[in-house]
Amino acid sequence: MTSTGAVQVDLGDRSYPIEFRPIKEIGATLAGLHKPGKCVVVTNDVVGPLYGQIVQDSLRSAGWAPEYIELEDGEAKKTTDTYIGLVNRLLELQVDRKTPVVAVGGGVTTDIAGFAAATTMRGLPFANVPTTLLAQVDASVGGKTGVNTSHGKNLLGAFWQPFLVHVAVDALDTLSDPEYRCGLGEVVKHAVLEEKQDPSDPSKWVPSTEFFEWLEANAEAIVARDQEALKHTVRRCCEIKAAVVSQDERESGKRALLNLGHTVGHAVEAVVGYGGLRHGEAVAMGTVAETHLAVLRGCCDASVPERIASLLRKLQLPTGLEGLKTDDLVKASFMDKKREQAHITVTMPHSIGDVRLVKITPEELIPAFESLTTNAGSADAAREEDASSKGGAGNGGASNGEANGAAPPSPPSANSFASGAHQNSENFMTGRPTTRVHQPPGGASSIIFG
Ligand SMILES: NC(=O)c1ccc[n+]([C@@H]2O[C@H](COP(=O)([O-])OP(=O)(O)OC[C@H]3O[C@@H](n4cnc5c(N)ncnc54)[C@H](O)[C@@H]3O)[C@@H](O)[C@H]2O)c1
Ligand SMILES: [Zn+2]
Repeated sequence: MTSTGAVQVDLGDRSYPIEFRPIKEIGATLAGLHKPGKCVVVTNDVVGPLYGQIVQDSLRSAGWAPEYIELEDGEAKKTTDTYIGLVNRLLELQVDRKTPVVAVGGGVTTDIAGFAAATTMRGLPFANVPTTLLAQVDASVGGKTGVNTSHGKNLLGAFWQPFLVHVAVDALDTLSDPEYRCGLGEVVKHAVLEEKQDPSDPSKWVPSTEFFEWLEANAEAIVARDQEALKHTVRRCCEIKAAVVSQDERESGKRALLNLGHTVGHAVEAVVGYGGLRHGEAVAMGTVAETHLAVLRGCCDASVPERIASLLRKLQLPTGLEGLKTDDLVKASFMDKKREQAHITVTMPHSIGDVRLVKITPEELIPAFESLTTNAGSADAAREEDASSKGGAGNGGASNGEANGAAPPSPPSANSFASGAHQNSENFMTGRPTTRVHQPPGGASSIIFG
């Protein structure tokens, strides 16, 4: 039975609750933590038409006077221009240092709005209302905010903790299947690094396989978006991430464990091009590849990567990709290496629940990259399902730009982030057409792409 209480992120005087309540209760949740007055809702032009009214009505009925800002959708709009535009809007609205910024959307929106909150008038109170699975299980917890620059992703930003994370699992009803699956990649990552407090000494954290086993037993319900299964999934991920962040807020040590799957995943994303693969898919295959590397280095049993791959397949996620050139992947890792001098810090799962950090050279990643092709066949199930959901009813409807078994598309130019796509054209970085949702939830909602 899933608990209904809040999860606490323990950071001394920056501690805050993660509340699990329906989207229409945001006003009350916020009023429980902050005296009602003016606040500014920041969302985007996809989420706004779905939830903007519900959120504003809820705020008004709890005594708030909400202002409302819609940003343009898409990672391509996670730019310094959007950020400066938002700061100017906040100043035009005459916010003061007590005016909460309430971000409602996926990780792109919450990262931009969080950064604007962190920096406007040296810091405004920030409330995070994540509406994608990825944002609920990952981006909303931990206080990282920021935007992309022409030099790379998230290079301009700040640590700025929210005073509230309001997780509304009901808001996921309108999320497309590919975006939902993308979040599941991060869910499995959390399960692989789950620790629990040692009952005989709560200051010690010991490996736990509980959540991983629960996912194995409930994969079907999760794929079917069963609400109870989803609530448990999101809550456990928030608890796992909150525990890690509470132990290492600024990523000077343990927090780097959350990069599990990301060293290989980022290299794959860079080589395939950000239009060829969703982030969660790259993380899924990266998690298997990094575990495979641990096996080759003699610190992990060979059954572990297969067990992770098997769970990913059940969740319709890819575990590898054909057509990747190892040389290209190593070069992509060298780009990362520049920032860390000689070595890359990579996560090394020793078993489920026991993940450690190891410094290696990009060349030492080669066996992990090579394993991606070996694991490629297993990606078919996810893609077949995706193809059959194209144009389908309910939450279905895949975009283009999904990974496929063929050779990956050409990489984009090095400074892809610099160029913003027009609002109604395809997303420049992801190659996805802009999402348009025709009806808000509650009715016969359908999502079309393009
Ligand atoms: N701050 C952190 O710690 C952290 C961690 C992980 C990722 N991130 C960042 O998060 C971003 C990715 O986040 P994302 O995957 O949520 O992408 P996103 O914000 O682009 O959302 C994906 C798509 O879903 C739409 N959408 C959002 N909620 C919806 C809903 N309920 N119904 C229908 N459509 C909805 C969005 O408008 C968008 O088109 C990246 O920029 C990444 O850098 C940040
Ligand atoms: Zn990630």
